[in-house]
Amino acid sequence: MKLPLPLLLLLLLFSATTSAAPSLSPTPSPTISPVPRTSPTPPRTSSSSPLDPKQLKALESLNIPTLKNPCDHHHPSSSKKPPTTVVTCDTGSPFRLVTSLSFTNCSSDLSISSTALKALSPSLTSLSFHNCPSLSPPPHLPDSLHSFSAVSSFPRLSGLSLARLVNLTDLTVSSVPVSTSGLFVVLGNMHDIVSLTISHANLSGNIPKSFHSNLTFIDLSDNLIKGPIPTSITLLSNLKALNLSSNSISGEIPDSIGDLISLKNLSLSSNKLSGPIPDSISSIPDLTHLDLSGNQLNGTVPRFISKMKSLKYLNLANNAFHGVLPFNASFLKKLEVFKVGGNSDLCYNHTVLSSKMKLGIAPCDKHGLPLSPPPRKEDSSSDDDYSEDDSSEKKKEEHHGPNKAVLGVAIGLSSLVFLIIFMILLAKWCG
Ligand SMILES: *[C@@H]1O[C@H](CO)[C@@H](O)[C@H](O)[C@H]1NC(C)=O
Ligand SMILES: *[C@@H]1O[C@H](CO)[C@@H](O)[C@H](O)[C@H]1NC(C)=O
Ligand SMILES: *[C@@H]1O[C@H](CO)[C@@H](O)[C@H](O)[C@H]1NC(C)=O
Ligand SMILES: *[C@@H]1O[C@H](CO)[C@@H](O)[C@H](O)[C@H]1NC(C)=O
Ligand SMILES: *[C@@H]1O[C@H](CO)[C@@H](O)[C@H](O)[C@H]1NC(C)=O
Ligand SMILES: *[C@@H]1O[C@H](CO)[C@@H](O)[C@H](O)[C@H]1NC(C)=O
Ligand SMILES: *[C@@H]1O[C@H](CO)[C@@H](O)[C@H](O)[C@H]1NC(C)=O
Ligand SMILES: *[C@@H]1O[C@H](CO)[C@@H](O)[C@H](O)[C@H]1NC(C)=O
Ligand SMILES: *[C@@H]1O[C@H](CO)[C@@H](O)[C@H](O)[C@H]1NC(C)=O
Repeated sequence: MKLPLPLLLLLLLFSATTSAAPSLSPTPSPTISPVPRTSPTPPRTSSSSPLDPKQLKALESLNIPTLKNPCDHHHPSSSKKPPTTVVTCDTGSPFRLVTSLSFTNCSSDLSISSTALKALSPSLTSLSFHNCPSLSPPPHLPDSLHSFSAVSSFPRLSGLSLARLVNLTDLTVSSVPVSTSGLFVVLGNMHDIVSLTISHANLSGNIPKSFHSNLTFIDLSDNLIKGPIPTSITLLSNLKALNLSSNSISGEIPDSIGDLISLKNLSLSSNKLSGPIPDSISSIPDLTHLDLSGNQLNGTVPRFISKMKSLKYLNLANNAFHGVLPFNASFLKKLEVFKVGGNSDLCYNHTVLSSKMKLGIAPCDKHGLPLSPPPRKEDSSSDDDYSEDDSSEKKKEEHHGPNKAVLGVAIGLSSLVFLIIFMILLAKWCG
């Protein structure tokens, strides 16, 4: 009877401390896995076929070590660093073929020869370059590509070389100057294009009159695009995001903009658009992000905007809107970001909205005209920032962390109390 007792106590103590320990520790780290996530490649064991010899040679010419299996190969690196070159292959036999190649932070002696690309070309569907600014663009990009990405790479790219990639579904060019007379040259034969990004690329010309209808994503921000938004763009009923910000686009927002029924993000900011906000915008059911700032839009701010259920980000700053802002505090509280400053003829009803909201516009007089010019200095510092929401957001977030810690401490303490009571009972029972 006496022998098992200390053992039992030890066991109890052990179980109590182990259950309390993880919840008491300040930084539980179950989500951080030491193994870096690799791209979804077929498991290596499923295919032991060697890589096609011609393609092996091509990889060697690109300075990719091929001693071991180059497929799923990550450039030799001290384990912590992300790989700079990633090769993925299919699982074919008798030979595997390279399907995707991605280069990041290329060394300056890298050069992509046409012969190497030709050898890889039949199977290569994805090619990407990230941060390889001095690399010369390959004279002939393989037309087998479904995805091509160049971010801060190459001194420049020609629109014609991109235009040859007729099987692309994804095109991303960012922070690379693209020389072409217009986007229509690039997109002319890309019938399958789904996602299009050409941003910060000095792209000139107009927005094309026709697009291929499967586009779901368009980002043409920060270029030199001129002319109007063609009405035909509103035929893209699958479009989820349209970003035309920071160009020189003029004219009015098409009345049919509401036909873009899948749209979630719309940014037309920093252009030369004029005229009113079309009523049809209110019929886009999932619009969450609407940025019309930095244009010459006029008319009144439409009341229907406050009925748009999904809206989280609304920027109307720096336009020429006039009249009384038709929003109440409960609508503005619902938004994560609201900016309306820089509209000198717009004012807010001070019986509806408090001056503490720092909207960057003047209160209205009884005729609905701005009482006084908005405080200029404050305007530039808090600009059109509506900061009340931000702070309440942060407060909400802070609540999550402590709760778990408190729970952990509670569990730990209660198991300790339980243990002590148990020990007292045991002592009494024995004695
Ligand atoms: C590339 O370089 C940048 C900055 O030099 C670094 O932050 C990044 O981790 C590098 N990426 C890879 C994949 O080596
Ligand atoms: C584009 O894809 C189609 C179908 O997959 C294929 O038949 C055609 O050869 C490809 N075109 C090029 C230029 O690779
Ligand atoms: C759009 O995509 C679908 C399925 O991905 C395809 O069947 C259809 O041909 C495409 N339409 C066009 C115009 O490319
Ligand atoms: C972009 O275009 C402007 C004006 O045409 C030119 O001054 C500038 O050098 C170009 N930038 C690049 C990176 O090509
Ligand atoms: C919309 O914009 C937000 C914020 O910039 C971004 O997080 C989100 O991924 C975008 N959604 C789409 C569909 O592009
Ligand atoms: C549009 O593009 C600009 C510049 O590239 C970027 O800052 C902004 O976040 C984008 N807007 C959306 C809604 O994604
Ligand atoms: C808006 O501006 C256009 C010119 O850009 C002008 O014709 C129109 O009258 C203005 N509308 C209002 C309501 O001020
Ligand atoms: C605020 O405006 C919304 C939308 O117009 C409306 O549904 C709501 O009743 C208004 N709330 C108050 C307190 O007036
Ligand atoms: C401001 O709101 C009050 C209460 O809703 C209303 O009676 C008044 O007419 C409004 N003033 C202006 C200028 O719209």
